[in-house]
Amino acid sequence: MPKCTIDGREVEFSAGENLLEVARKVGVEVPYFCYHPGLTVVAQCRMCAVEIEKFPKLQTACSTPAGDGMIVHTRSEKAKANQKSIMEFLLINHPLDCPVCDKSGECDLQDNSYRYGDSYTRSTEERRTYIDLDMGPVIKKNMNRCIHCTRCIRFGAEVAGVREMVAIQRGNSTEISTIDGRPLETDYAGNYADICPTGSLTLKDFRFKKRAWMLKKTATVCEGCSRGCNMEIQQDGGSVYRCIPRKNMEINQYWMCDEGRFNYQYLMDPTRIVKPRIEGVNTTWSDAIGRLKATLSGKKATILVGTDLTVEELKLIQEMSASMLPGSTIAHIGTNGVSTTSDDGAEDQLLKRKSKTSNLHGAEKLGIAPYKSMASGSEAVLIFRGGKAELPALTGIKKYGVGVFTESEAQGFEVVLPSTSFAEKDGTIVNFQGKEQRLKRAINPMGQSKQIGEIFMLWKNSSSALRAEATGVA
Ligand code: SF4
Ligand code: SF4
Ligand code: FES
Repeated sequence: MPKCTIDGREVEFSAGENLLEVARKVGVEVPYFCYHPGLTVVAQCRMCAVEIEKFPKLQTACSTPAGDGMIVHTRSEKAKANQKSIMEFLLINHPLDCPVCDKSGECDLQDNSYRYGDSYTRSTEERRTYIDLDMGPVIKKNMNRCIHCTRCIRFGAEVAGVREMVAIQRGNSTEISTIDGRPLETDYAGNYADICPTGSLTLKDFRFKKRAWMLKKTATVCEGCSRGCNMEIQQDGGSVYRCIPRKNMEINQYWMCDEGRFNYQYLMDPTRIVKPRIEGVNTTWSDAIGRLKATLSGKKATILVGTDLTVEELKLIQEMSASMLPGSTIAHIGTNGVSTTSDDGAEDQLLKRKSKTSNLHGAEKLGIAPYKSMASGSEAVLIFRGGKAELPALTGIKKYGVGVFTESEAQGFEVVLPSTSFAEKDGTIVNFQGKEQRLKRAINPMGQSKQIGEIFMLWKNSSSALRAEATGVA
């Protein structure tokens, strides 16, 4: 393999790899703004310029392929002087308002200014100013902070497939805008905030709710459809504030859709049922389980399982129902019109899939058939659900629910036992490519919700449920 030397460290590379990425391999961070590995290289900001021996001028590391025998210096006097000059140039028109900027703590401009800039400015001119503007329901724009890296323009045109962001005016007046100031069209608008290296494009849903450094981060998977985009849940004090994509080149590259990004909101729906209920009235776990047991024992039930449940939960339901509700039939529910994996397909050109639950493919692997109608002789229907599976219209039969339900979804249910959503548990889901991925618990279950495994334990021996409740363990 060819080799080059970066800041005295020898490193192997593959043909075509740029110096910025090759430097990363040996722990050398080259500062940059306009480069993004998921977008075309434009080498506009010049922040990444490095010195290469035998080259007369500095070269931009993002657009220069590594060459065999190249000797590169990222912190030479010339390179450092360039970094300082670029920072000075970018800050001529940037407000010094980090303390009140939503990007503070995760801003490339702030970090690079601190690491590579100067603490002194020669500029005395007034900075240009704009008012904050809405760019549709997802993004708010603050042009005072824009450094014209054009990542947003390239994301729209190259990834989202809609040329909606443009640069208008010229020179000092250059401004990023949609054509005629129209709202953003793409269903992937949240990514604009992720890739903007400054606080120019921010998420309306998140801005000013929490400082970035206070958030606790959990690497997990989106449950919004059968793609299973890799993402991070960011929470504080048990409340989820934001979900952002994680890189997985085989599944979602660097991106996620808005539907998946904001899916977490239902976790904190004030009408979510988080206490056990009998006929719409909150009760104790032992009473609710006692009622469920008494009503279902010796009866044939149709058991509906959401394809929003994990493989482990589905297996457990299969095993426990066979012993506790013998003669019952299990079928899966998920997305109307997508009963089997062969109905699942691409919903758009980028990531979205037709199945709006994450584990249809896992449920099918376990041999669970799709729900068509009530099994003959059924006297009750027992629904296990993660929170996303669509509920079929069920009339003229007793209904029981275990899982995540809102008040309106659980209308007419005799008993509801609250259980956990995708953010409140660990487990495996299988995406449309057959890849097994892990959901990771990011927050504690809301209210008195319990894991499905715990509920079965209490159900199996309701006297232990009573005991546990008496000792405050339940
Ligand atoms: S709005 Fe953000 S991403 Fe777009 S050009 Fe300005 S700084 Fe770059
Ligand atoms: S494409 Fe599907 S899995 Fe990916 S973020 Fe959107 S809803 Fe979630
Ligand atoms: S990152 Fe290389 S020129 Fe902007």
